[in-house]
Amino acid sequence: MKILVTGGMGYIGSHTVVELIAKGHECVILDNLYNSSINVLNRIEEISGVRPEFVNADITDENALRNVFENHQFDAVIHFAGLKAVGESVTIPLKYYDNNVGGSIKLYQLMEEYNVNNLVFSSSATVYGSSFEMPLKEAYGRGTTTNPYGTSKLMNEMIIEDYCHARKELSAVVLRYFNPVGAHKSGLIGERPNGIPNNLMPYISDVAIGKRERLNVFGDDYDTKDGTGVRDYIHVVDLAKAHVLAIEYAAKNKGMETINIGTGNGYSVLEIVEAYKKASGKDVPYVIAPRRAGDVATCYADPNKAKELLGFEAQYGIEDMCLDSYNFIIKNPNGIE
Ligand code: NAD
Ligand code: UFG
Repeated sequence: MKILVTGGMGYIGSHTVVELIAKGHECVILDNLYNSSINVLNRIEEISGVRPEFVNADITDENALRNVFENHQFDAVIHFAGLKAVGESVTIPLKYYDNNVGGSIKLYQLMEEYNVNNLVFSSSATVYGSSFEMPLKEAYGRGTTTNPYGTSKLMNEMIIEDYCHARKELSAVVLRYFNPVGAHKSGLIGERPNGIPNNLMPYISDVAIGKRERLNVFGDDYDTKDGTGVRDYIHVVDLAKAHVLAIEYAAKNKGMETINIGTGNGYSVLEIVEAYKKASGKDVPYVIAPRRAGDVATCYADPNKAKELLGFEAQYGIEDMCLDSYNFIIKNPNGIE
């Protein structure tokens, strides 16, 4: 298939482009490089032997988007482009809604105009909110979000649902990611956020390479195995492969499906610290800090629907997730330059 990959220069998008190319698909990447580097394109080429076409454009720019649809006949769109910093979204909500919701609507309108009927959308476990029992099942529906980022994902899900009801030729797969971590085995692509990392694994990586002194563990008094927060970490290469299966599923089935992409296993913060120390051979000093506002104690997926509908099962365990994160950070301590 010929696939438009919005946000394809980013962390999850770049890994997905590599897996799509490996399966013989043709990718056109559209990204405004807001949170990625142009050099990701060289890295994708180095890994896959193919240099995908890249369009430097913003999904909120209708004319730029229209040009892309005018110049290509796409079979499908995988829509990653979005802003994703939870804390920042509380400070600048309108930017998040404009980018993540406004930009998506423009994209969906052009898909309709140019008769592109297959969509995969990046959603998040955050749409479950905090009131459902674990493991989280798609059948629970959606809960209450606690920040504009989460609400922007929830709104996209609702828009896609209404749109699928109205347009019977549309196929959409909404993937609810749990906690993507790790990097490609080559160490050529991965995640190195700008500034102080918000998420656990990039922060631990910084501590392991001596860039930061110690990890702050946000709370050790949760009702979990060791009192620290438990999450369902998934290797980004597994997540990327799930996208290939999802877009191939969309091409064969009409309507909308919402699917969790996780492993079904929950690891605590301290278990991740131990696994990282073992994989890297480095010390990861930490202190117990107060709980972070908005955090839930435990969050992990029921991964059965992904297995039944897509035939997807995560292959990589926590050792590979830590080892590959470390391999990427030692090769790219300042990110992809
Ligand atoms: P990322 O920031 O690495 O990638 C997103 C890419 O989109 C970046 O390259 C950025 O430059 C681009 N982009 C942003 N706004 C754009 C716009 N208006 N026009 C064009 N390009 C734009 O993030 P990621 O971790 O790869 O996440 C990809 C998607 O998955 C996002 O929608 C994110 O919200 C979602 N998601 C991520 C996680 C996670 O933990 N990483 C979890 C759940 C969902
Ligand atoms: N944590 C620490 N110290 C840190 C960073 C995180 O102890 O410096 C802890 C958190 O308290 C939590 C766990 O590590 O218990 C994981 O935290 P992350 O920030 O890595 O991930 P979250 O589960 O909080 O967030 C992820 C995505 C969000 C999404 C959210 C809800 O990054 O985009 O899941 O689905 F909104």
